Amino acid sequence: MTTCYINGKYCSIANAKISITDRGFQFSDGIYEVITVYNEKFVDLDLHLYRLLESLKKIDIKINLDKSQIEKISRKIQVINKLKMGIIYIQITRGNQHPRDHKYKQIKPNIIIYSIKKDLDKFNQMALKGVKATLYPDIRWLRSDIKSISLLGNVFAANHAKKKKAHEAILHNEKKYITEGNSSSVWIIKNNICKTHPLTYRILKGCTRAKLISLLIENKFKFKETIFSTKELLNADEVFITSATNFVMPITKIDEHTIGNGKPGKVSLGLRKSFIKAI
Ligand code: PDD
Repeated sequence: MTTCYINGKYCSIANAKISITDRGFQFSDGIYEVITVYNEKFVDLDLHLYRLLESLKKIDIKINLDKSQIEKISRKIQVINKLKMGIIYIQITRGNQHPRDHKYKQIKPNIIIYSIKKDLDKFNQMALKGVKATLYPDIRWLRSDIKSISLLGNVFAANHAKKKKAHEAILHNEKKYITEGNSSSVWIIKNNICKTHPLTYRILKGCTRAKLISLLIENKFKFKETIFSTKELLNADEVFITSATNFVMPITKIDEHTIGNGKPGKVSLGLRKSFIKAI
């Protein structure tokens, strides 16, 4: 049985209980973070912990743990659960409040941290073939920069992708400009220039995105943080997504459209290799 951390204690997931008055349960009033563990190594741990603290600040939740204490608990969970490949999931909600009221009080946050085993090597095989994506309207709220546990828009998109037998849904706004994936950052390459959506309130500040930008700079590959249209996406030479679990995943088909020659692009695969080497 997986062990989890819950409000200062360690216990099995089956015995971990949160009150029905939890504001996360009632209002999605909370944030989360997903950190990959690859061959027992934490990937981009600092970037994820920094973003977690940023998300807390953005929704005005104060906790009595600092970055190094969260890191310590996460590492302890990894060791107890003998996690070699998978993720550490961290969720912090505002806390329990009764009676139910949209207006919040200063209450004690609920903090949970646990691990989930995942076969991340499976993604290496998928990357060599390339995966399919599908387009879906970005119906999420206008603060997608916050890693909020309010994910119904993403859930709709992911289940649309499931119906279409696609790996990911790529989201477009009302003007048919691409924002991001249902749980990833989206990139295109055209004429040797790599493009991704700029950091605004419409997208999450991806940690893998940040790491990839430094790899692009290192490799002297031209890139622009700029918006691009659905048309540009479908006519790109290469398309790929990035996220904590996907690393760099080439997209070779979007609905009925084939990207490039239908095979994973050389640059995308090269970047995936560099990314794995870097971790
Ligand atoms: N998702 N955009 C969205 C909407 C995401 O949910 C994610 C990550 C990303 C990529 O962020 P990062 O590179 O830091 O993982 C972009 C995680 C993996 C999840 O929700 O499971």
